[in-house]
Amino acid sequence: MPASAAEQAVRAAFAEQAGWCRSLGSPLTALVCDLLAERPWPESVVARRLSEWPGDPRPSGDAVPLRLCGGLHAGVRSGALSALAECYPPHVLPEREQLGSAIDEAIVLPALAECLDRPPQTNEVGRANALFAGALAFADRFPVPVVLFELGASAGLNLRMDRFGYDLGGLRTGDPASSLQLKPAWRGPPPPDSRVEVIERRGVDLNPLDPVTDGDRLMAFVWADQADRVAQLEAALKVARTHPVTLDKGDAADWIEARLAEPQRAGTSRLVYHSIALQYFAPESQQRVAAAIERSGKAATPATPIGWLRFERSPDDQDPTLRLRSWPGGQDRLLATCHPHGGTINWLGGARGR
Ligand SMILES: C[S@@+](CC[C@H](N)C(=O)[O-])C[C@H]1O[C@@H](n2cnc3c(N)ncnc32)[C@H](O)[C@@H]1O
Repeated sequence: MPASAAEQAVRAAFAEQAGWCRSLGSPLTALVCDLLAERPWPESVVARRLSEWPGDPRPSGDAVPLRLCGGLHAGVRSGALSALAECYPPHVLPEREQLGSAIDEAIVLPALAECLDRPPQTNEVGRANALFAGALAFADRFPVPVVLFELGASAGLNLRMDRFGYDLGGLRTGDPASSLQLKPAWRGPPPPDSRVEVIERRGVDLNPLDPVTDGDRLMAFVWADQADRVAQLEAALKVARTHPVTLDKGDAADWIEARLAEPQRAGTSRLVYHSIALQYFAPESQQRVAAAIERSGKAATPATPIGWLRFERSPDDQDPTLRLRSWPGGQDRLLATCHPHGGTINWLGGARGR
């Protein structure tokens, strides 16, 4: 029987996702997606749901491939999918046939279908490499205690960015005793050797995750063959368990308008930031976020400075960029271009540039 239009769209989504995984360095997830794009799906609840998917299955839409890849990885991690586990690290990349049969065995399990109900949600700790470097640049300009506000914070792991240790282009900074020590591939001079003293931290997400109860879910969405990301997330979850933060549920625009309307203590700064989040906000929310920060910026004084740090993709840039706008003054600086997961930073900000 010829495949339905819905099934063809889902298969095309798996093929597209395979390309993304390959270019972002996950040959295993790419192969899983290739196989799901090309091979017949054994009769099962999963196959029926895939072939009747009602929405947009593409990576930019409902992200159906990452939902299923997350479910498969969760099954490997929990021990429920033993044949598939033989194909995942620490084992080497399997042959197509072995992986294909293991996926078939997994797909027929009715419980696997539950993973299709939940969109993927990640919290990429490697982005703290860039965010903390940006915070150092802000503290270099305004060396006062800072209040952090993160928009689209997911599980809020990067709200603890000062609780991680770093080697940023040779600059040892952050917390040297942290269980998470980060060392991105760094090009350019190190960031300023300033001090980020966080006096308060607070974040918002439409769907905030709990690092304790949602830890397994977060781990499942990390690609299994990216050992560095797996280890980083495990270590960051450990940090999160001992350093709780306030994470509110809501829309970024409503939330930041309310936060910035609260009085700011003289002699402290505010740093609003977000990473790979803006693109997910509705256009009206994006505009309101910008307007609220700019309004607050216009009211900023040397005793109450504010910064807006963005690790985001723009349509004109190939890689995500790190930009910092700060007030008083409103100067906007391109600090870095970055790998989307933060593992490579091309620092342009200069050690003391302003
Ligand atoms: C791709 S994730 C990035 C999470 C985190 N910033 C990171 O770098 O790992 C995007 C996050 O934005 C959140 N989000 C999407 N729309 C939002 C909105 N209007 N307000 C607040 N959070 C939102 C999602 O729930 C998700 O956690």
